[in-house]
Amino acid sequence: MRPPPPPLLFAMLVLAAARPWCEPTPDAAGGLDVVEEALPSGFPPTFLRFTHHSYAQMVRVLKQTAARCTHVAKTYSIGRSFDGRELLVIEFSSLPGQHELMEPEVKLIGNIHGNEVAGREMLIYLAQYLCSEYLLGSDRIQRLLNTTRIHLLPSMNPDGYEVAAAEGAGYNGWTSGRQNAQNLDLNRNFPDLTSEYYRLASARSMRGGHIAIPQHYWWGKVAPETKAIMKWMRTIPFVLSASLHGGDLVVSYPFDFSKHPQEEKMFSPTPDEKMFKLLAKAYADVHPMMMDKSENRCGGNFLKRGSIINGADWYSFTGGMSDFNYLHSNCFEITVELGCVKFPPEEALYTIWQHNKEPLLNFVEMVHRGIKGVVMDKFGKPVKNARILVKGIRHDITTAPDGDYWRLLPPGSHIVIAQAPGYSKVIKKVIIPARMKRAGRVDFILQPLRIRPRTFLLGPRRSGPGGAGPHRELEESSQEPLGARRQPAAGGSKPWWWSYFTSLGPHQPRWLLKY
Ligand SMILES: *[C@@H]1O[C@H](CO)[C@@H](O)[C@H](O)[C@H]1NC(C)=O
Ligand SMILES: [Zn+2]
Repeated sequence: MRPPPPPLLFAMLVLAAARPWCEPTPDAAGGLDVVEEALPSGFPPTFLRFTHHSYAQMVRVLKQTAARCTHVAKTYSIGRSFDGRELLVIEFSSLPGQHELMEPEVKLIGNIHGNEVAGREMLIYLAQYLCSEYLLGSDRIQRLLNTTRIHLLPSMNPDGYEVAAAEGAGYNGWTSGRQNAQNLDLNRNFPDLTSEYYRLASARSMRGGHIAIPQHYWWGKVAPETKAIMKWMRTIPFVLSASLHGGDLVVSYPFDFSKHPQEEKMFSPTPDEKMFKLLAKAYADVHPMMMDKSENRCGGNFLKRGSIINGADWYSFTGGMSDFNYLHSNCFEITVELGCVKFPPEEALYTIWQHNKEPLLNFVEMVHRGIKGVVMDKFGKPVKNARILVKGIRHDITTAPDGDYWRLLPPGSHIVIAQAPGYSKVIKKVIIPARMKRAGRVDFILQPLRIRPRTFLLGPRRSGPGGAGPHRELEESSQEPLGARRQPAAGGSKPWWWSYFTSLGPHQPRWLLKY
C-alpha cells in the first residue's frame, strides 16, 4: 500500500534486520515492532520480515525487490501451476533478462514439495538480501552478481503450499500438500533417464549425458510444473542448481535412482562423483547445524558422513529432478534438506536463514569452479552444441548457442577435448590448482574437416565395421530428442516442446522467445 522507499534506505533496513540485535523473539511480531520503534522516526517499516509468505505476499515481495533493484534484478514467469498460479522467478545479474557470453547461470528451486516450506522462505529472503547487499556496495555480492546470473524460483509447487499452509505450522501433517493439485509428486514426475543411462552404460555405448526423453514419458501424466521446469532448462544454459527440501538435515547428490532397481539403497555415483561431493560439501561444510557433532541433533544419521550423501545410497527413487538435470542437460543439481521440520513455526525462520545464508552463497559461488570458454571456428564464429569431453569422466557438456561452455571440474589435471560435427577435434591439457576459485578460461578453435565428418569423429580406433559406432548413434539421438522425430512437425522449424508450450495459453513467458 505504501510507496516503496528509496533503494538505499530499504537496503539499510534489511541489513539492520539481519543483525543479531534485532533477532525476532519467539513472539515474532513483537520482536519486529521493537525494531521498528528503535528506528529513527520517518523510516518506513518495510524491511526483511522473517515470516511465512502466502502466494500473494511472495509475488509482491519478489516484484518489489525487482523494482528496487531494476538494474540487477527482474521477475519473470516460467509457466503456471495446475491451478493457474504463475511460477514466478526472480533473476539477478548485471544485465537481467539476457545471457551474457561466458557468464554462468545458476538456479535455486524451493518448495517442490508443497509442504516443505523453509526453502521457499530462504529464497524469498535471499532475493531481498542480494538486492540490498548489492545496493549497499557489498564487495562479495557485487562481484557475484557482476559475474553470475542467478535465478530463484521460491515455489515450484504453489498449489501444494496452499494446502499445507491452510493447516499451518505445527499442524501440517507429514504429507498433506506435498503433491501438486493433480496429486502428483513433482520430484517423481520427471522422465526417468537414469534407467536408460544404466542400460546404455552396461552396453558400454555411452559417452554420457544429453539423453533424450523417451516418447512413452509423454503418455503418462506430466504436471504443468514439471513441464515448466523442463522448458526453462531448455531455454537457459544452466550450469548449477539446487533444490531445497525439508524433513531431514543433509545434502544429497545424484544419482537418486539406484543402479540396481531392486535395491532400496545402493551407492550409485555419477561419473562426476568427485565434483558432486565438492558441491555438496560447499553447502554442508559451512552450515553450522550440518557440522554440529552432537549425536541427537536433527539429521543424526548423516553425522559421520559430514552431512552429505549420494541420493540412492540414502533411498532410491525414480523420476527425480536432479537425475534429470544431469542426464538431460549440462546442469549439475544437488538436493538440500534444510531441517527436520517441514513446516517450521515462524519464529524458527530467522535462525534457519542465519544457518543457510552462507551455505547458499558459498554454493552459488561454486559455479565458478573448473573451466569455461568459447568454442569457435577459425573465423571466430561460435560453434553451438559442440561437445566438451573430459578424459576419465564419461559425461559430456555441450556449448550454448553463443558457443560458450562451462565445465565444473575438481582441482587437478585434466585432458579436455572439444569436438563438433564437421570439425577436427582439439585436445588440451588443463591443470586446475587446488585453491583456484575462478573458472579457468579455455577456448577452442576448431578446424573444418575436408573428409566426411562421420569417419573422423569416431576416430580411427572406434570406427567399427560400417562406421556406425554406438557413440555416433548416441550423438544423433542427443542432438535431436526422440520426440521431435516422431511428432508431426507442426510448424516446420518449431522446437520439439512447442506444442505443449502453446497449449498453455496466452501466458507465454517472453524469455522463451529469445533464441
Ligand atoms: C560490479 O559492477 C558495477 C557496475 O559495472 C561496478 O560499479 C562495480 O565496481 C563492480 N563491482 C565489483 C566488485 O566487481
Ligand atoms: Zn522433499
